[in-house]
Amino acid sequence: MKTIWITGGSSGIGFATAKEFITNNWNVVISSSNKIKLESAKKKLELNNNNKNSVHAIVCDISSKNNVDETINSIEKNIGKIDIALLNASAYSPNKNQIFDISNYELLVDVNIKGTLYCVNKLKDVMKNRNNTIAIISSPLGYRGWPTAGAYGISKAAQLSLSESLYFDFKKLNINVRVICPGFIDTEATKKNSFKMPFLKSAEYAGKKIFDRLTKGTEFEIIFPYLIVYFFKFTRILPYKIYFYIWKKLGNF
Ligand SMILES: NC(=O)c1ccc[n+]([C@@H]2O[C@H](COP(=O)([O-])OP(=O)(O)OC[C@H]3O[C@@H](n4cnc5c(N)ncnc54)[C@H](OP(=O)(O)O)[C@@H]3O)[C@@H](O)[C@H]2O)c1
Repeated sequence: MKTIWITGGSSGIGFATAKEFITNNWNVVISSSNKIKLESAKKKLELNNNNKNSVHAIVCDISSKNNVDETINSIEKNIGKIDIALLNASAYSPNKNQIFDISNYELLVDVNIKGTLYCVNKLKDVMKNRNNTIAIISSPLGYRGWPTAGAYGISKAAQLSLSESLYFDFKKLNINVRVICPGFIDTEATKKNSFKMPFLKSAEYAGKKIFDRLTKGTEFEIIFPYLIVYFFKFTRILPYKIYFYIWKKLGNF
C-alpha cells in the first residue's frame, strides 16, 4: 500500500484530497497544527472507510522545524515510506483594509514559506533515490501582486518559484517536484474573502483533480479549473499600465 502525507489535512482541499486517496486504498497521514480539529477530521475520514488502519493523524505545526523532522521520522518509521508528500498547509488572512500589518506578514512567512522549506528540507533526506514526489500547493495569487493580498501573495509566489527551482535540482536526487495551482475553491480559507469568487468550485472537486493528476499524470504543473487559472496566467504578461488600469476600473485601488 502506498503512503501519502498531507500537511493541512484537517480541512478544505487537504481533507478532501485525503478522502480521495483513502477511497483509492492509499495509506493516508494527515497533519495540522490544531489537535482537536485534526482528530475530528480523522474520525470523519474513518467513517467512510472500512480499513481504519489506513487513516493516520499526526499533529504537526509546519512552522516548527523540530516538529516537521519528528513527524516525517515517525511516519517513515511507524507507518510507511512516504510516496507522495502533499505540502498543502497554509495560513490565509486577506488584508481587506489595505493596512500594512507586519504580524500578518510574519505569520504567513513562518507558515507558508518557512514551513514549506522545513518539510522540503527533511523530505529530501528521506526520499533521496526513491523516485517519490513532493507536490507543493501554491496559488494563482502568486502570479502577480494583487491588492489586499500582499502577505499571502508573497508566500504563494515564493512557493511557485521554489517549486520551479527544485524541479531541476531534485532531479539529481531522483525526487519529482510538482506544483498545484487551484482556482477559487470553497473552503474555510476562502470564506474570509469579501468578494464574489468567479468559477468557485467545491473542495471535493479539488480533491478529485489532485488525486487524478498526482496518480495518473507526471506533469510539473497541475491547474484547475482551466479557465480561471488561464485568466490569472494571462495577467502575468500585462504591462503595469494596463494591469493597474484594470484594477482602478474594478474597484477603489
Ligand atoms: N481555497 C482556495 O481557493 C485556494 C486556491 C488556491 C490555492 N489554495 C491553497 O490550497 C491550500 C489549502 O487551502 P484551503 O483553502 O483548503 O485552506 P483551509 O481549509 O484553511 O486549510 C488549511 C489547512 O492548513 C492547516 N494549517 C494552518 N496552519 C498550519 C500550520 N502552522 N501547520 C500545519 N498546518 C497548518 C489548517 O489546519 P490547522 O488550523 O489545524 O493547523 C488546515 O488544515 C493552501 O496552500 C492554499 O494556499 C487554496
